[in-house]
Amino acid sequence: MKIDLILGLQWGDEGKGKIVDVLTSGYDIIARFQGGPNAGHTLEFDGIKHVLHTIPSGIFHDGKLNIIGNGVVIDPVIFEKEIEKLKALNVDLKKKLLISRKAHLILPTHRLIDKASELSKGKKKIGSTLKGIGPTYMDKTGRNGLRVGDLEMEGWNEKFENLINKHLNIITNFNVDIDFDIESLKKEFLNSVDFMNNLEFIDSEEYFHDSIKKDHKILAEGAQGSLLDIDFGTYPYVTSSNTTSAGACTGLGVPPNKIGSVFGIFKAYTTRVGSGPFPTELFDKVGDRIAKVGNEFGATTGRARRCGWLDIVSLKHSINVNGVTDLIMMKGDVLSGLKKIKICVGYKYKGSIIKHLPFSLSDSSLEPIYEELDGWEEDIFEITNYETLPTNFKNYIDYLETKLNVKIKIVSVGPDRKQTIFR
Ligand code: GDP
Ligand code: IMO
Ligand code: MG
Repeated sequence: MKIDLILGLQWGDEGKGKIVDVLTSGYDIIARFQGGPNAGHTLEFDGIKHVLHTIPSGIFHDGKLNIIGNGVVIDPVIFEKEIEKLKALNVDLKKKLLISRKAHLILPTHRLIDKASELSKGKKKIGSTLKGIGPTYMDKTGRNGLRVGDLEMEGWNEKFENLINKHLNIITNFNVDIDFDIESLKKEFLNSVDFMNNLEFIDSEEYFHDSIKKDHKILAEGAQGSLLDIDFGTYPYVTSSNTTSAGACTGLGVPPNKIGSVFGIFKAYTTRVGSGPFPTELFDKVGDRIAKVGNEFGATTGRARRCGWLDIVSLKHSINVNGVTDLIMMKGDVLSGLKKIKICVGYKYKGSIIKHLPFSLSDSSLEPIYEELDGWEEDIFEITNYETLPTNFKNYIDYLETKLNVKIKIVSVGPDRKQTIFR
């Protein structure tokens, strides 16, 4: 049995958590393959809203395994809090949550370096979530990192102390003012490590290999989105991992010929949180309205998300890089009541018209070219049958399918599990 993937095609927050939860009933295993607590994946059911950061979004289903893959970076302190929250809701995690020994650990000093680095950049800051993601992946590729499996080895404490000391030196070199009490940060970290040691660690690549052989159905859950990919995103305003489908291979240890469906998920418009270029960003009343109706605030940091029109050029880029087989459109309900809906179909750039993402989107001469469709008046969040959706909503879907050349298989019309229409 092949592994299916769910990936965000924009700048994150497309609604991955909701859809993974909705699709979990069809799978045996849900696996996260990259990112860390910079992610905030929201699920809603039975009138309650849950936000997950490190734990896969299949965790609320009984009889399903949730695996944190080797490509993920884990902050034990945040992880413990996340687990305590689930325990308070009587979610039984025993035999349901497994952690790769090869996943890297976020140390408190990784978070401090993130903060120092952002402060030193001033106006050019990335807008990081300050969860220590970049510095942890830097230690991974620099071959200095601490991994979950190290916690079971003799002498890990010495490695920990050495790395902390190295980080303290790095922080001094940034020459910025940040306050911290290293002893209490270390204590907090070590307490959470004790807590983590009660969880189950596995050799995950072996586990996935066996599961595939046994025909178990696996769904890999991406974090962030393709435009935040370290290679194919809007560098340097990106995250530090491969958020695209290749990242699922390296982040789980699964070969490319074992990848099945690639579900690409996008909002009916675009949002971005943090710094970086955003050609279709709106600075007018329409943008304000989308932000308000869509409740566009970051699930991890609470920051306001920037809003704009859908961008076909960047969506095509993401579809190509990921090999998307099926599309999922979220939050179409947010556009209800708009007279006109604009869609970016190309860019004016350096005197010509281009239909691909140029090297840099930051160039001030880059200007979106729009087409316009009629909107729909009706609220659609109670609709459960595709045929009863407003004609202009269905026109929007048909238009996008023609432009993108991939079927939109699922349409989400509200945050709840039930507000999901399969076609
Ligand atoms: P993720 O990071 O991709 O999992 O997405 P987030 O959870 O950060 O952000 C998506 C937000 O949109 C959450 O608040 C969801 O509850 C909400 N949401 C998801 N799907 C829909 C939808 O179809 N309509 C509306 N109005 N909200 C949605
Ligand atoms: P989910 O999984 C939206 C953004 C940050 C910042 C940049 C780098 O919920 O879709 P980092 O902390 O990774 O160094 O930040 O990436 N970012 C996200 N934006 N959704 C996310 O995750 C994000 N994770 C990181 O805002 O611009
Ligand atoms: Mg999110």
